[in-house]
Amino acid sequence: MVMRQIAAVSGGTSGIGQAVVAGLVEDGYRVAFSGRSYSKIQALMSDINRHKVGVTGVVSDARDEGHASGLFALAQRTFSVWPNVYVACAGQGFPGTLLRSSYIEWEAFVRLNLLGVMHQMREAAQMFSSNTERPCDLVVIGAASARSLPEMDPVFASIKAALHALVESLRREVCPHGIRVTLIEPGFVVSGFQKAAGYDPKWFAQIERDHGRLLQPRDVAKVVRFIIQQPLHVHIDDVRIRPTGQPI
Ligand SMILES: NC(=O)c1ccc[n+]([C@@H]2O[C@H](COP(=O)([O-])OP(=O)(O)OC[C@H]3O[C@@H](n4cnc5c(N)ncnc54)[C@H](OP(=O)(O)O)[C@@H]3O)[C@@H](O)[C@H]2O)c1
Repeated sequence: MVMRQIAAVSGGTSGIGQAVVAGLVEDGYRVAFSGRSYSKIQALMSDINRHKVGVTGVVSDARDEGHASGLFALAQRTFSVWPNVYVACAGQGFPGTLLRSSYIEWEAFVRLNLLGVMHQMREAAQMFSSNTERPCDLVVIGAASARSLPEMDPVFASIKAALHALVESLRREVCPHGIRVTLIEPGFVVSGFQKAAGYDPKWFAQIERDHGRLLQPRDVAKVVRFIIQQPLHVHIDDVRIRPTGQPI
């Protein structure tokens, strides 16, 4: 019997996560995903499930311990098979420097973009180790800016840099067990990201004028799909994807 492919995606209601959910369904996966907005989840589920029964969504906060475990359990309940792919997409930008950002917001920002992802990585790796004999992929969305610490959002970029190191550290820990832990480092992607974090729209419009056509979420999703569908002995473990015209 061919085992069905099941994926779990955090932050599947917008941008990169939404494109990953839609792309994986196209590739024949069943997908459990999370987001904060009930109405967005319902809209996405009815849109995709109109054609084929393939997705289930849940309102769940990616900052919380248990987020990934909850998604695994939802997938198991819905599709009767444990996921062998987990994509950690949920995240938010954070404009500003250490001096020019509100320190009151640091804790919530770090909880979502670092601690929350650490919990997801740990839980996904534990679930993969104990509950499936199939090859497993854990994909984490980092950021190209982690390498350049741009003036606009060096705090965001620094937290992503810490995450990048954790991805490599986990990769080393679990690769002997056949678990591929992959980092994707996107440059500028046009998504809900800019508005959700309050980046200056004039600044972003200037970026678009300066750099030409920016990435779309589906460009990043295509890379995720390509990576997890490699033969089992091949691991493309770190991909930086930027718009052609983005210098740093
Ligand atoms: N866009 C870029 O230029 C860019 C560049 C580099 C890296 N990235 C990274 O790419 C990832 C995805 O960003 P995106 O561009 O796709 O942004 P997006 O369009 O704003 O999507 C973010 C997703 O995360 C979810 N989310 C946010 N906070 C959450 C929480 N507390 N609990 C559960 N879900 C939560 C959102 O859900 P709701 O909308 O339902 O709340 C949404 O589905 C992020 O990790 C981001 O740092 C983006």
